[in-house]
Amino acid sequence: MSKRVAILISGCGSNMVALAQSMQGDHPARPVLVLSNDPEAGGLAKARDMGIATAAFDHKPFGKDRAGFEEELNAALQQVQPDIICLAGFMRILTADFTAKWDGRILNIHPSLLPKYKGLHTHARALAAGDAEHGCTVHEVTSALDDGPILGQARITIAPGDTPDTLAAKLLPLEHQLYPAVLARFAEGDRTPIYLPA
Ligand code: GRF
Repeated sequence: MSKRVAILISGCGSNMVALAQSMQGDHPARPVLVLSNDPEAGGLAKARDMGIATAAFDHKPFGKDRAGFEEELNAALQQVQPDIICLAGFMRILTADFTAKWDGRILNIHPSLLPKYKGLHTHARALAAGDAEHGCTVHEVTSALDDGPILGQARITIAPGDTPDTLAAKLLPLEHQLYPAVLARFAEGDRTPIYLPA
């Protein structure tokens, strides 16, 4: 029985597309919903074009009422009964209640070599630190931000002249390789981390 995957996005959803495209044939999972906190998110149209159900709830009217916003998320998720939730460019911080409710079933991709640079502006921070390497991490989501068990990492070298934009551009194709590889393994119940380049 295929694992049911819900994907949460906030923007263009390039990682969502990569995940959805990977779930074909004998893949152990299938996408059942793409959900966004931004009704204008470009990824929603891409999901619809791929025949995936979508839902969107604007988080702005909820203000600081994160629980109220998450009630909408949970209602939509309950409809599709996901086995796995993939955060893919999802830019809202989730409450401990939400991560507890879906404990052990939420994955995220973060654009740094965790545990370095949790939070935002990761490329600029790696450059400011003079790091020789940078990368992205797929991890299980817990109540602590960008802190759960690591399930995969992809590394790049930082070249002279690199900027936050060039690092983001170098990393994105690797994210699109890493996240689907981790999901396929995770959907089989295998939490052995994947490291790229292999
Ligand atoms: C990516 O840099 C990803 O690492 C981060 O969100 C950014 C945009 O992702 N989580 P996407 O193109 O919306 O999937």
